[in-house]
Amino acid sequence: MTTILRPPGPRDRAFGLRLLADMQRDYLGFWREAQRQFGDTVYMRQGWFHHYAFMHPDQVREALVDKARSFVRYEQHIAVMRQLHGQSLMITEGATWQRQRRTLLPAFSPKRFEAYADQVTAAAEHAFASLPPDGATTVDAEHTMNMLAMDIILRTMFGSRVEEDTARIEQAIRNLSAIGYAEMFLPFAIPAWAPLPRQGMKRRELRLLDGLVRSHIGKRRAAMKAGASAGEDLLGMLLTARDEEGDGAALPDDEIRDQLMTIFLAGHETTATALAWAAWALAADPALAARVAAEADGVLGARAPTMDDVPRLPLLAAVVKETLRRYPPVPGVIMRRAVEDVRIGDWLVTKGSLVTIPFFVPQGDARWFPRPEGFDPGRFLGDAARELPRGAYVPFGAGPRVCIGNGFAMMEMTLALAMLVQRFTLAPAPGQGVPEAKMQVTLRPAGGLRLLLTARVPGPARAAPAPSPAGLHACPFHG
Ligand code: HEM
Repeated sequence: MTTILRPPGPRDRAFGLRLLADMQRDYLGFWREAQRQFGDTVYMRQGWFHHYAFMHPDQVREALVDKARSFVRYEQHIAVMRQLHGQSLMITEGATWQRQRRTLLPAFSPKRFEAYADQVTAAAEHAFASLPPDGATTVDAEHTMNMLAMDIILRTMFGSRVEEDTARIEQAIRNLSAIGYAEMFLPFAIPAWAPLPRQGMKRRELRLLDGLVRSHIGKRRAAMKAGASAGEDLLGMLLTARDEEGDGAALPDDEIRDQLMTIFLAGHETTATALAWAAWALAADPALAARVAAEADGVLGARAPTMDDVPRLPLLAAVVKETLRRYPPVPGVIMRRAVEDVRIGDWLVTKGSLVTIPFFVPQGDARWFPRPEGFDPGRFLGDAARELPRGAYVPFGAGPRVCIGNGFAMMEMTLALAMLVQRFTLAPAPGQGVPEAKMQVTLRPAGGLRLLLTARVPGPARAAPAPSPAGLHACPFHG
């Protein structure tokens, strides 16, 4: 019998349960400390599982890109997520996932971005107009950005507007996130029908979100029956999609519901969190904020940005990229399980082992990002980022399961942030300390984030500068 050499790592006589509890309590601190003590590869025993974590950029890339086929997403985590996402793109594997990804991809084609950009700016115009236009006002940045991002995803993907009780929806998502996050650290998924108090809340919140998504499907179907076209948005696309490899039938309603639910959830919470952190970074650094506002003024003056402006706002785009480095809304990919023996770096990962890729660790590692605690968009200006090892910065994941909304999110965040700095000077609200980043499915500011917004008048536009070669879609990491 050959002995398999395993990497160093923490030991736990309680079958890994104590380690799981530590991880749940402070996810970021746990992995940072693990890397500090044991290095870029960490191993631990978790119940009957061998569990590896890879934190070197080369290993991150090897696992997510080169050897992606050797892994599936860990079934226990997927079972927790399935209760909300159904059988969507986020959940499925193999041929079903490939077919779904092909069906959804056209909705994320850059060809559609021009129309999306107009809807993003209309939503931002609406959100920021609801803030008092003169004097200073304190806002809950997470809530403001959540409402904005929700409105954007409904306008672009559902061809609709925020009409429902958005505060209630926001609360439902928060409750489900908190329950889901806790269940990720259990050795089994708790079914929603289980007669437990938290499951009661889960059932109620699931019903609310399900009703929201299904009402949009119902309204569109009714409009189509009355002679309207299906529409150019994702909802219209899904309603007219045909199973070309199968019997050519329309997609079942349940599948349309599942895809829309995933796009609604994955498509707004992440960008909202990132926008809130970006607003914080600017509020905390007035000199940087002044440079960003000067860039927006010079390119736009007082007019709303369009898609064509995006490559002309390189500093703004760099602020967004640095936000995703410093405060990655999703700090790691969904845990993987090896479906065969596979070598990552020098280590043999045996079939059945679990693999965590906490990519926020390399994104905060001084070897790749000097002074990692600082907020320095200069890292992403010009050619600077091209020097990075390829797996050092992967806020959208990498490989076949890279975020489908990557380009959309970058466009959305750049435009929304441009419109924010055109209109307001940002500062921490009185009493707002430096927020601690806390993992709650997404990486949120613990205790909330209150900002003081003071209205400003944008300076006049100057002659349009040439688009930056390091513009938005020339992503140095994913091409
Ligand atoms: C700042 C914003 C965003 C961040 C940081 C982010 C991050 C990520 C990451 C890290 C993954 C990969 C997970 C893994 O490999 O396990 C992912 C997947 C995904 N994201 Fe995003 N995302 C963002 C915005 C969006 C938007 C705007 C949409 C849709 C409108 C979206 C839809 C999805 C979907 C559907 C997947 C699953 C793709 C697949 O498995 O094929 N995301 N995202």
